[in-house]
Amino acid sequence: MLSAKFDIRVVVNAEELSLKAAEEFVHRAEEAVQARGIFTIALAGGSTPKSLYTLLASNTASFREQVPWNKVHFFWGDERHVPPDHPDSNYRMVQERLLSQVPVPPENVHRIFTENSDPGKAADEYEQVLHDFFELREEKLPRFDLVLLGMGPDGHTASLFPGSNTIHEQTHLVAAPWVEKQNTYRVTLTPPVLNNALCAIFLVSGSEKSKTLQAVLEGDPEPERFPAQIIRPKRGTLLWLVDQAAARLLQKQA
Ligand code: 6PG
Repeated sequence: MLSAKFDIRVVVNAEELSLKAAEEFVHRAEEAVQARGIFTIALAGGSTPKSLYTLLASNTASFREQVPWNKVHFFWGDERHVPPDHPDSNYRMVQERLLSQVPVPPENVHRIFTENSDPGKAADEYEQVLHDFFELREEKLPRFDLVLLGMGPDGHTASLFPGSNTIHEQTHLVAAPWVEKQNTYRVTLTPPVLNNALCAIFLVSGSEKSKTLQAVLEGDPEPERFPAQIIRPKRGTLLWLVDQAAARLLQKQA
């Protein structure tokens, strides 16, 4: 069972999931900009957040107008080890659906340089980007206003996959794990960074994730098997935004 400090919100379907996520994005952006003059977000990759990114760029519910785009700084929670113009690139997906559609200054887009043939070097470079942007001292961690996360049917999140040593990484801010099942390297923020967020929001949709979601939220702590269980912001909030199909096996929400 995860620590008590988290909230689960079950919505009807994937469309409502994106709408609720967009509302959270706008709300937290407004709050952060009011408090600190900027909004820093680490984006999720994969397919679930695609419609969220499209929605934020659209005139639906005037999301587009509400966001102070020039004060938003975009980072990535993880990236595939492919060039930024590759079809699998999380950067490319966000660029096409959101960044190319709204007035975000280029200097506010902090992508992971996965064109570097050495994934370890790409991770080190990104770690330096975080150090510089957040003006870190040795002992400090970057504190994102919002971290968006997905969850795979195997319980992975970001690029923290079952059985990976990266699950236990406590020193580096960014790591480059080999992902056997995908036969590729990934570059990912590590648990200390993800858990230092002011707010982390999981977006989970679809019945194919229902068994894993039930295990993650209501089963015993098994972070090796279900890395999504690792995400528990120490000084922040955790929201699980899930649709009914994904939540269908949850006992507590019945
Ligand atoms: C990625 C993501 C990854 C994703 C999950 C869920 O690069 O693929 O960061 O962690 O969030 O795999 O992916 P879907 O949303 O496509 O189910």
